[in-house]
Amino acid sequence: MAATPRVLDLLKKSGVETWIESGAGLESGFPDDEYIAKGGRVAPAAAVRENAQILLHVRVPAEPPGRDAIAIGFCDPLSDPAIAARYAQAGATLFSMELVPRITRAQSMDALSSMASIAGYKAVLLAAVNLPRIFPMMTTAAGTMPPARVLVIGAGVAGLQAIATARRLGAVVSGYDVRAAVKEQIESLGAKFVNIKIEESGEGEGGYAKALSEAAIRSQREQMAQVMKEQDVVITTAAVPGKKAPLLVTREMLRAMAPGSILVDLAAERGGNCEVTRAGETVVEQGVMVLGPVNVPATVPRHASEMYARNIVTFLKNMITKDGQLNLDLNDEITRETLVARGGEVVHPKVQALLGVNA
Ligand code: NAI
Repeated sequence: MAATPRVLDLLKKSGVETWIESGAGLESGFPDDEYIAKGGRVAPAAAVRENAQILLHVRVPAEPPGRDAIAIGFCDPLSDPAIAARYAQAGATLFSMELVPRITRAQSMDALSSMASIAGYKAVLLAAVNLPRIFPMMTTAAGTMPPARVLVIGAGVAGLQAIATARRLGAVVSGYDVRAAVKEQIESLGAKFVNIKIEESGEGEGGYAKALSEAAIRSQREQMAQVMKEQDVVITTAAVPGKKAPLLVTREMLRAMAPGSILVDLAAERGGNCEVTRAGETVVEQGVMVLGPVNVPATVPRHASEMYARNIVTFLKNMITKDGQLNLDLNDEITRETLVARGGEVVHPKVQALLGVNA
């Protein structure tokens, strides 16, 4: 849910009147009357969509409003630029929460990081409930069980959260990332950094990774296969913005793992880091279970909504002046970088390039 009752206070302070789609918060644990108690107005979806000047979404609907309303939400314009074209055509304004720049001032608006934290945490729980063994070492009268061994590939926001969660459950954890900069972060969580040598840097711009060459990926896979054999659980989270997820685990590598082990592929929605992954499904390959969960934050709806609502409202407030007026200031880096469509045109250079249109 894009707004929780709590953020209505923040909106009110900024001079914004809030309408809520009737029933929209219920499944996340926010019934209509909690919004009403905070001064929100609850109305049927169609009425809200027709009347609101600014529409806050989790995922921006494919169908744009037929007027100059402002839609803000996840819309993945670097993978699905057509949505920007549709909003432009309809004369609507579109902001993408994926494009919030990773600068200090925008940290409280970084919804990708919020959702990735939740996904990383939940991925470990999914592995734990499906693993035929326990995570912590346990010494009992019936013998001593060794701790589970967990490898996390891709140590960005989701991966680091997965490492921390697996550690809390008592597993022996290793982590790997193509960006060498994360070695220290992995180690500070009590996990071992897996040292894989490739002949090129994976550091891209803005703290993100860049795509590797085929040769580097092959070399990475060969070395990774040796590490994977030892693991009970592998969690993959590797992503490169605007690209299909890199294929890091082949069918053959998976088969080298012991039967009963588990791979959770958090990149399932972007094509998967594992060759066997099927988005939204569980596949068993020679006794190894491969989970490809999609929209993982939605399985923790209460906290996912609380974090997202805080992010999107902070983002919106950045465009509202002290006297409650909307001000789309393109000199503001956050506004400029996230604006995708405006005034009948796609305005974001990267999205323009993908659509093959000129500025
Ligand atoms: P992401 O979701 O785009 O990617 C996940 C991870 O996969 C990244 O750590 C990436 O390096 C890794 N990866 C990509 N290709 C790989 C490959 N072939 N093999 C192994 N790993 C691969 O990234 P995410 O989690 O959104 O953020 C990445 C980093 O950005 C964070 O760790 C952090 O350093 C930085 N960041 C900075 C923020 C700020 O300054 N405000 C906020 C959030 C993140």
